Amino acid sequence: MCGIVGYVGDRQACPILLGGLRRLEYRGYDSAGVAMVMPDGDLAVYKCKGKVDALEKYLDGKATDATIGIGHTRWATHGEPNDTNAHPHYSADGRIAMIHNGIIENYRVLKEALQAHGVVFRSETDSEVLVNLIEYIRTTEGCDLAEAVRRSLKRVVGAYAIAVIERGNTDRIIAARQSSPMAIGIGNGEYFISSDASSIVEYTQDIVYVGDGEVAVVERGKALQVFTLDNQEADIQVTRLDLSISDLERGGYPHFMLKEINEQPRTIVDCIRGRVNPDTGQVILSGIRDNIDRWLGARRVIFVACGTSWHASLIGKQLFESMCRIPAEVEYASEFRYRRPVLFPDDVVIAVSQSGETADTLAAIALAREAGAFVYGICNVIGSSIARGTDSGTYIHVGPEIGVASTKAFTGQVTVMAMMALALGERKGTLSAAQYAEVSRGLLALPDQLREVLSHSEQIADLAKIFTYARNFIYLGRGYNYPTALEGALKLKEISYVHAEGYPAAEMKHGPIALIDAEMPTVAIVPHDSTYEKTLSNVEEVKARGGKVIAVMARGDEMVRRIADYVIEVPSAVECLQPIIVSVPLQLLAYYIAIYKGRNVDQPRNLAKSVTVE
Ligand code: AGP
Repeated sequence: MCGIVGYVGDRQACPILLGGLRRLEYRGYDSAGVAMVMPDGDLAVYKCKGKVDALEKYLDGKATDATIGIGHTRWATHGEPNDTNAHPHYSADGRIAMIHNGIIENYRVLKEALQAHGVVFRSETDSEVLVNLIEYIRTTEGCDLAEAVRRSLKRVVGAYAIAVIERGNTDRIIAARQSSPMAIGIGNGEYFISSDASSIVEYTQDIVYVGDGEVAVVERGKALQVFTLDNQEADIQVTRLDLSISDLERGGYPHFMLKEINEQPRTIVDCIRGRVNPDTGQVILSGIRDNIDRWLGARRVIFVACGTSWHASLIGKQLFESMCRIPAEVEYASEFRYRRPVLFPDDVVIAVSQSGETADTLAAIALAREAGAFVYGICNVIGSSIARGTDSGTYIHVGPEIGVASTKAFTGQVTVMAMMALALGERKGTLSAAQYAEVSRGLLALPDQLREVLSHSEQIADLAKIFTYARNFIYLGRGYNYPTALEGALKLKEISYVHAEGYPAAEMKHGPIALIDAEMPTVAIVPHDSTYEKTLSNVEEVKARGGKVIAVMARGDEMVRRIADYVIEVPSAVECLQPIIVSVPLQLLAYYIAIYKGRNVDQPRNLAKSVTVE
């Protein structure tokens, strides 16, 4: 997804803009650019296809001694990646420059109207239409830039996070957002604008999240002003973040993804801290406790999510049905939002999203709210749009997840879902004291168990080397580990570009077993759980047809060791928490295969960390 940054203050803007863009690289992009208002009032725009490094080289020798500017990393939606389509875009008369994250859905109609008034366009982008619309309104209606932005956005349909600067004004940036994230950092006599707070926290922890339909006037030496598209003053909430720079640095690891995989023993501790009593095992979750009537009166729960969060939701479904005896459904948010789903006021819709900015999930929430359902969020990013757009929720507290492939967020999401199911099941009386104690003790045991799994990383790296040849994989699991198989396959696909499919193990005989041969490895998840014998039979069926099997098995399982070609041992855990344990070696397997194939693990091709467009 595109990333936007802005700065106005007493320091040189260019290094701050470039540093901010680098912190947003994980969002995925194909070109970058900056625009600045020079001390003499001249408006300079520098942009090019490629990474921020290419932009920095391009800037070499250029005038950059400005203290106000905006910057952008572009993830192409309209128009191919090239220098012209890169942002910032500037008006035909060269007087204003703008950066944009989002999609202007009615840009064609607006473009035709502007062309009819003689406006000439350089690029194929929707964003260039908006910057020219702003300039057209400003000049023909004789209003200032902030008012021109407000009037223009009243005519726009779509999603945007924009920042606009103008020739001759070295003090003011106008920013606005609708459905795309934007944070404003308030420093000491300086302001920072960004798509997310991670590129601001090194300068200030005081953050204002601009709301949907709001316009901000960010002016040197003046208090921040925010107003709505209807010209009403908006209230400004300052959030003090407790993020640190070390949270954002690689911490000595070669990639953010490997750092985040290895953080999981600690992030599980952070996730359950204050929620599971280490002495009594008692689970207290305010999101359940404070809304208990809605939870007890729920006709069903419906999870809406995308990607990895959807896999976690499949586990959540089984947790809620087994522990709370409440009907649970899982929907791809992108399908749910267009399907005209039947919803009731006594439904509980649970939106699961690491970034809290996924457009499809946001749209699904809007549908749920329209129907009067109780909407609950399970997010990681504090203050994200989904976190602020739900009735209540639980943060997973795993810290910034920079690697595009979600790892610690997945284990954090499943952990939160298990805590929710325990807390609700106990209140509903659908869980025996023994079951409750077993699962809450299981949660407390997870950090040590994950440390044990991670201590075998080298063996997994060696195993990955053997299978770097493979062009297809199939991942098999049953029950709670069917979603784990899906998640393991997605990890491999998205960072190594090797095709992989997750499948319910029992389904093999209904078709996919025809695929089995020596060229397509099978990763079989065979822990000591209620489906063990059945899954072991599936492994033997694969072996009988010449397939190579990598089995993820309980430590010391000699039966599986005899049958499989390769094994990955994991500690045994209570069945419903097994996915948290098993997913970690699958994350490592995908990581090392991708490394051996020379892939860009943190920024895989075509992918973005947060899919804020539809
Ligand atoms: C997972 O590794 C992917 N990066 C992707 O599938 C991701 O889970 C999906 O885009 C949902 O993102 P969210 O959790 O931030 O909503």
